[in-house]
Amino acid sequence: TTVASLREFLATLSTGPGASSHSSVGFVPTMGNLHAGHATLVREALKHHTHTVVSVFVNPSQFAPGEDLATYPRTLPEDTALLQQLGVTALFAPTAEEIYPQGGPTKGTFVELDLPPCTDTLEARTRPQFFRGVATVVCKLLNIVQPHTAYFGQKDWQQLCVVRQLCRGLFLNVEIASVPIVRDSNGLALSSRNGYLSPEQRLTAAAIHSGLVKGRDIVNAGRDDPVTANAVFRAVLSEWEQEAPGAFRVDYLAVCCRDTLAPLEVIKGPCIILCAVYYAGVRLIDNELA
Ligand code: PAJ
Repeated sequence: TTVASLREFLATLSTGPGASSHSSVGFVPTMGNLHAGHATLVREALKHHTHTVVSVFVNPSQFAPGEDLATYPRTLPEDTALLQQLGVTALFAPTAEEIYPQGGPTKGTFVELDLPPCTDTLEARTRPQFFRGVATVVCKLLNIVQPHTAYFGQKDWQQLCVVRQLCRGLFLNVEIASVPIVRDSNGLALSSRNGYLSPEQRLTAAAIHSGLVKGRDIVNAGRDDPVTANAVFRAVLSEWEQEAPGAFRVDYLAVCCRDTLAPLEVIKGPCIILCAVYYAGVRLIDNELA
């Protein structure tokens, strides 16, 4: 739970008995309420490293006032049991005071990224403080754990882009690895926020993905005869409307460059279709590579 105790423990790994010059540390940062998506990241880290550290920390600075910080699901006993079962080396579960020792989560030392369009479109438009909070806590956690590789999910594609920029811009000595989106059997991307939905609602919400798949198919079918973003939007929206009439309020739907997240008008090569959708009072995000 404390930075000092984790550092002390990590130091014993590199110098203690059994340590070798080949030993390496993989790190998976999470906000807990772990599901199969998180478990996939952890398994990937376990596969490549002698030691795997997982953090569970609901980071206050990435929530805006009025968002779900207070109600965000906290299930540390269950998370601990799962991580023990998976065989991780250490779980770091600090308090907010431990991570923000300079006057709480609204004061102190923060990381600012100003790299449009990556940092001012899509998620950032609805959640202007979000990536400042994410970049800050990821920077702090990477400095605390000092892993060789940190693992992030492609579910939060824009977050992955921001973290890569953070490491590049601050010369952080860490490799960033990513893992494809883990979905339920109907296609809904696994998310801690799915817990806010009933089983029937989760079934309806699966249409979000089937819409993106329709969009992806349009892009891929147009490889020789490039399609417009508008044609992709029409395909996605009509699938959503057919599958779940009137159910979704679209926050954004965009076709972008995979790296810079610059919006594309005519799609000629690899791209990503991203969306955020309000359904039953819950904001759900998803994406599909094309
Ligand atoms: P959290 O939402 O708990 O997600 C932790 C990691 O799990 C992220 O890298 C996320 O992309 C990945 N993940 C979540 N659902 C996934 C799914 N269905 N398939 C694959 N990967 C999935 O993202 C955060 O926490 C926070 O912003 C954090 C990076 C920990 C900083 O506070």
